[in-house]
Amino acid sequence: MIPYGRQTVDDDDIQAVVEVLRSSWLTTGPSVELFERAVADVAGTKHAIAVSSGTAALHCAMHALRVGPGDEVIVPAITFVATANAAVFEGATPVFADVEHDTLTVDVASVASKISPRTKAIVGVDYAGQPCAWRELQALAESHRIPLVADGCHALGAVYNDRPVGSLAAMTTFSFHPVKHVTTGEGGAITTDDDALAARLRMFRAHGIASDHRAREQRGTFHYEMVELGFNYRICDIQCALGISQIKKLFSWVERRRAIAARYREALASINGLEVLRDRPEAKNAYHLFVVKLPPSADRAAVHRKLRESGIAANVHYMPVHLHPFYRDRFHTEPGMCPVAEREWQRILSIPMYPALTDHDVDQVVDALKAALRA
Ligand SMILES: Cc1ncc(COP(=O)(O)O)c(C=O)c1O
Repeated sequence: MIPYGRQTVDDDDIQAVVEVLRSSWLTTGPSVELFERAVADVAGTKHAIAVSSGTAALHCAMHALRVGPGDEVIVPAITFVATANAAVFEGATPVFADVEHDTLTVDVASVASKISPRTKAIVGVDYAGQPCAWRELQALAESHRIPLVADGCHALGAVYNDRPVGSLAAMTTFSFHPVKHVTTGEGGAITTDDDALAARLRMFRAHGIASDHRAREQRGTFHYEMVELGFNYRICDIQCALGISQIKKLFSWVERRRAIAARYREALASINGLEVLRDRPEAKNAYHLFVVKLPPSADRAAVHRKLRESGIAANVHYMPVHLHPFYRDRFHTEPGMCPVAEREWQRILSIPMYPALTDHDVDQVVDALKAALRA
C-alpha cells in the first residue's frame, strides 16, 4: 500500500536514539533542550517548549492564555478535532468559522462575524501545510485586542511573507506525529517570543511545578513547589534525539514535498472537474497533505475504494468539526453553520504526500486516480 503520509527514518536517526538510550538522561535531559532550540530556530522564535503531542501543545496554549469557562475560542470548521477540543479541555466553547472555498483555510470575514465580547482567542490553522491569511487575521485580532494562536501542526517549514510559520501568532503549535514533516514518534511543541507565556507553558507541561528535575539537579536542591494545576505533558530525551536528527533534514524534505506537489499539479490539470487547492502567492506551502477536490459528480467513497484496490490508501482531512456528534450534543452545533466547509469537505481527498514518494509512485497515484474516476 502507498499510504497518504508516512515517516522517513534513516540509519543516523536510529543511531541518535541509541546514543541517548546509553546515556544518563532518558527524559527531561539535554536532548529536550537541544530539540527545543532546533524547533525555535526553524520557527524564528525566542522559545520553543516541547511536549508530548500536538494536542498537548494546543491544550498548553489555551491554558497559557487563561482560556476558561464562559470564554469562546474561534476555530476553523475544517481542522483536526484537537484544535477545537483544546478549548473544551479548559472549559471554553469553540465557535466555528467557515473556510475559504479554494484554500480551505479559515475565512477571515467569517471569523470577524463570529467575534463576541466573550471571544478569548482566535486559532488559525495552516491547513495541509499552507499558511492561512495571517496578515488579515493579525489586523482583525489586533483591532479587537484578541490573541491569535496558530495551529501549525501541518506547516513546519512553511513561510508567509518571508516569515516562518511559528512566528506569526502569539503562540504556534506543532505536531511531530509520524505523518508530519519531522517525527518524534509522538510529540509536539509550542513556539513563542513571549517570556511570560513560555514560563506558563513550561509549568503546565510539568504538573504546574515551577522548576524541572534537571534544573533542581543542577542547583543541588530537592525543593519544589506546585503553583497551579498542570499535566504531565513532557516529551522524553529518546523522542527528542530522534527529533534533533530529523529536523536537520526538514528543509530538504519540504523541498521534496513541493516538487511532488508540482508534479501532481501538472499531471492532474487534465482531469475534468478535478480541482487542487489554491496556493497563496505570499506563502510557501510546506505540503503536509496534498488535497484534491473531486469532480462534483464523482462518488468519493467509490473513488476511495477503487484507489485502495490499486494499492493506494487515500484519506479525508477533515469532516467539519461542528458536525461531529460530540459537538452537536454538547454545543448544539448543526449543519448550515459553516456552509462552505460543509459543501467542500464532501469532495476532498488527500492523496499520498511524503518525501520518500518517488516520481514513479506519483505517476502511479495519478493513473490510479484517473482510472478510479473513469470507473
Ligand atoms: C491541525 C492539527 N492540529 C492538531 C493535531 C494534533 O496533533 P497530535 O496528533 O500530535 O496530538 C493534528 C494532528 O494530526 C492536526 O492535524
